[in-house]
Amino acid sequence: MEGGISSLTLLCLVLSGVGAIQVVIPKDVYEYARGDNITLPCTFTPKPGSTPSLVIVSWSVEGLEAGAEEHLILTYYSTGVTDITQIYEGRVSVDVNIGTGKANLNLSSITLADNKIFKCLVQIPGDEDGKPLDTARLVVLVAPSTPICKIQGKAEYGQNINLTCVSEEGSPPPTYSWESRDVRNMPRVPDPRTTDRGGILSLYNISKDTSGFYTCTSRNKIRAASCNITLAVMPPSMNIGSTAGIIAAVAGLLVILIIIIYCCCCRKKKEDEEYAMGVREEEYHDKEPNGKSHRAEDARSPDDSSVRSPDDRYEERSERGNDRRRDYDDRRSDYDDRRSDFDDRRSDYDDRRRDYDDRRRDDHRKDYNDRRSDYDDRRSDYDDRRDRYSDRNERYDDNRHYDDERRYNDQRDRRYDDNDHYDEPYDDRDHDRPPVPNNKPARRDYDD
Ligand SMILES: *[C@@H]1O[C@H](CO)[C@@H](O)[C@H](O)[C@H]1NC(C)=O
Ligand SMILES: *[C@@H]1O[C@H](CO)[C@@H](O)[C@H](O)[C@H]1NC(C)=O
Ligand SMILES: *[C@@H]1O[C@H](CO)[C@@H](O)[C@H](O)[C@H]1NC(C)=O
Ligand SMILES: *[C@@H]1O[C@H](CO)[C@@H](O)[C@H](O)[C@H]1NC(C)=O
Ligand SMILES: *[C@@H]1O[C@H](CO)[C@@H](O)[C@H](O)[C@H]1NC(C)=O
Repeated sequence: MEGGISSLTLLCLVLSGVGAIQVVIPKDVYEYARGDNITLPCTFTPKPGSTPSLVIVSWSVEGLEAGAEEHLILTYYSTGVTDITQIYEGRVSVDVNIGTGKANLNLSSITLADNKIFKCLVQIPGDEDGKPLDTARLVVLVAPSTPICKIQGKAEYGQNINLTCVSEEGSPPPTYSWESRDVRNMPRVPDPRTTDRGGILSLYNISKDTSGFYTCTSRNKIRAASCNITLAVMPPSMNIGSTAGIIAAVAGLLVILIIIIYCCCCRKKKEDEEYAMGVREEEYHDKEPNGKSHRAEDARSPDDSSVRSPDDRYEERSERGNDRRRDYDDRRSDYDDRRSDFDDRRSDYDDRRRDYDDRRRDDHRKDYNDRRSDYDDRRSDYDDRRDRYSDRNERYDDNRHYDDERRYNDQRDRRYDDNDHYDEPYDDRDHDRPPVPNNKPARRDYDD
């Protein structure tokens, strides 16, 4: 074979009558780490027996992709001139020795951009027909950068998830491998369905047992780097449950709020209706115990014994009032403000009553004996009136069957009005009458 080629070369030489050059780059691939200063060797052998007067060495580079353009790095002329392409200035040089046939390329601080095919071309005039060029691949190696570990998908029971691992850098491209430890930090036997391809660890139908520590190692021929991730697989019901719980709580609160508002509205409406219908009566009832006590006190004056009857009647009615009052006891709580209004009025009333008591004590007691003499007369008058009053009472009882309430209210209202003008009649009576009949029904009978 060798003999064949030699004879072919010889034949060529013979045919062309020109020398045959041989250019050789010893290796097809050179691997260096990024940042290294390297030398790409290239040798040439001129045609035997000749001493070339001119030798031109050219180094050029070509991208790895198909159809990539070729770029000249430099051209060396044996006359002593070297043309260097601008982008390579400062970091390339040729180491040429024509005698020994050396045409090496020095390249400093190589980068990933130098990851290309380098061509060594030697041209000797009159020696063109051999093999004037050779090529070699430069592989610039880069240590893998620290990879980034991520989880794709939801870490919930029954889900399929991916654990991904990528190094930004690495040349040649790093390979990835995942290792897993359980929560007790013990190595585990992976699920048979688990796959680990290209840095993607696919986990299927994950469960609590899938939880643990996962470490990815990114590795190429230079170095290795790793990242790790902690996987905590949660039951899906937890998230859904908590969300549902929050929604339910909010909804419940809303419902309660609506009910409260509705009740308040209803109550207010009802209250208004009740007020329109019978609040005066109720108001009166609230006053009644006090009003009654005043009258009882007044009625207890010594000249008062004969006026008991109306008072009794009053008490009878008052008892009915009390019955109703009991019916309204729960409602009363709603009328606290009105009651406080009343309390104010009552305090006024008490003041007036105190005034009255004073006056009675100071003035009327003096006149008491005098009046006492008139008293029997008045008493007989009063008995008459009392008869009339009994008639009225009968009528009242009859009427009571059908318009009891209305009448009752009327009476109460009138008496209530009398209470408002409590002062006046007393001023009159202080001088005209015995102070006795502070009893409203009785007084109204007088007026009648
Ligand atoms: C490469 O050469 C440059 C000078 O061109 C020098 O500064 C640098 O330290 C060298 N690097 C190595 C790894 O030898
Ligand atoms: C080229 O690099 C070699 C070592 O690889 C060194 O001996 C030589 O001096 C360098 N030549 C030039 C011109 O820098
Ligand atoms: C996991 O990776 C596989 C293959 O790369 C892909 O088909 C699948 O959709 C990924 N799953 C998730 C949850 O990202
Ligand atoms: C997922 O795993 C559970 C037990 O952990 C099993 O009951 C269920 O059938 C599995 N589902 C699928 C789709 O494999
Ligand atoms: C996992 O990460 C922690 C810090 O995040 C680190 O301390 C630990 O060494 C890492 N383990 C592995 C195996 O990379």
